[in-house]
Amino acid sequence: MIKNTLLPAAEFCQRRSDFIQQMPVNSIAIISAGKEVTRSNDTEYPFCQSKNFYFLTGFNEPDAILALVKNANGQAQSILFSREKDALQEIWHGRRVGQIAAVTDYQVDLCFSLLEVDEQLLPLIEGKDAVLICQQGEPAFEQQVMSWLADIRKAVRTGAKVPKSLLDCSDIIHEMRLHKSSAELNIMRQVNVISGAAHQRAMQKTIAGKFEYQIEAELLHEFARNGARHPAYSSIVAGGDNANILHYTDNDEALNDGDLLLIDAGGELAGYAADITRTFPVNGKFSHEQAIIYQLVLDSQNLAIAAIKPEQTFAELNRIVCNFLTQGLYDLGILKGDLEVLLAQRACKKYFIHGLGHWLGLDVHDVGDYHANAQREQCRPFAANMVMTIEPGIYIPLNDKSVDEKWRGIGVRIEDNVAVTETGYENLTVNAPKTIVEIEQLMANTK
Ligand code: GLY
Ligand code: MN
Ligand code: MN
Repeated sequence: MIKNTLLPAAEFCQRRSDFIQQMPVNSIAIISAGKEVTRSNDTEYPFCQSKNFYFLTGFNEPDAILALVKNANGQAQSILFSREKDALQEIWHGRRVGQIAAVTDYQVDLCFSLLEVDEQLLPLIEGKDAVLICQQGEPAFEQQVMSWLADIRKAVRTGAKVPKSLLDCSDIIHEMRLHKSSAELNIMRQVNVISGAAHQRAMQKTIAGKFEYQIEAELLHEFARNGARHPAYSSIVAGGDNANILHYTDNDEALNDGDLLLIDAGGELAGYAADITRTFPVNGKFSHEQAIIYQLVLDSQNLAIAAIKPEQTFAELNRIVCNFLTQGLYDLGILKGDLEVLLAQRACKKYFIHGLGHWLGLDVHDVGDYHANAQREQCRPFAANMVMTIEPGIYIPLNDKSVDEKWRGIGVRIEDNVAVTETGYENLTVNAPKTIVEIEQLMANTK
């Protein structure tokens, strides 16, 4: 098991081997680790590894470089470049794996110090037909690769051969990341249970007069004490009308009796994200109107989840949910007009203003193509071991004068994480209370 990854080195070896299979012959892939990011002056944000690099190595130090070589005869080699051991730096800033342990523990073929990268890498690039990199917002690293190519070009008159193509290999890695292994699914189950417990704790600790940030602290406490030291994304703790701001993260207002509280929060465990939303009443009891909107959203979510199976698509799930929510909002008098027209227009989108879900994995909005068509419908057929969120919502801002006052200020989203199985689905979000009865019982028993 590689430290902090919860996965054996063999799984990372297999990924590198699967990736190399998909490389053209006589090519080299050069993948960079993340960099430390300054927060202010001489302090940094907690380090977050580049997820593509992490997926192929499990190696969690900044600045490293992975070179995957596929020779003309198909022979392959994986070579890591990492920070050298340095007693003084390690006393100040923490331990480094170093080159010897990188080979034994991470099972790369070779590891060199970053100080040797030019010397070791240039001969590996020279003579290849193609260089593969991840072109995704890392201009400094792309510049570095261009500069290595320029160095080789300087020697063409003495016979050096410069690779002719620079290819983006993100798609290869993203497709691999989209299909989870059973070990990855296990981690995603665990981080969901940890995050579900955090939502339970938030419900138990919520009371009018507390501040949103106090509930955020309860979530972070529960994540961290179970090994998910960092949230997968900034937690949204949105009381009352704040729920109608989709990415509300100020989390600095007092919670009011009679309001709902929307919490969208998930931990990150061994790099894998949970992304769970629950909405519940601050005082532990849904009002009549809150319960009606909540039940509508919940029923739509259950419909969508029940329809998940191989070959299903987000496009079809969106159609199911939009029909249901449009009909429901029409029945409540919130949408007015001709029902057939409203259904055809997907009129619920006035109040359900985001997508139904997204892939989930090492990133919260995970990588992987959605096969969106010209109408922006996501037509990719699901397959076993893909993981996604299902997160319908209804948001009726306080200032929406087009609806009866009694509905205004209600914002509800319910979000679960679901894996596709061979025959249907597995809901990974098993312990975050979701029905009105479950929520009211939990909150009643802890006041
Ligand atoms: N937490 C972000 C999202 O639900 O997509
Ligand atoms: Mn989500
Ligand atoms: Mn979310």
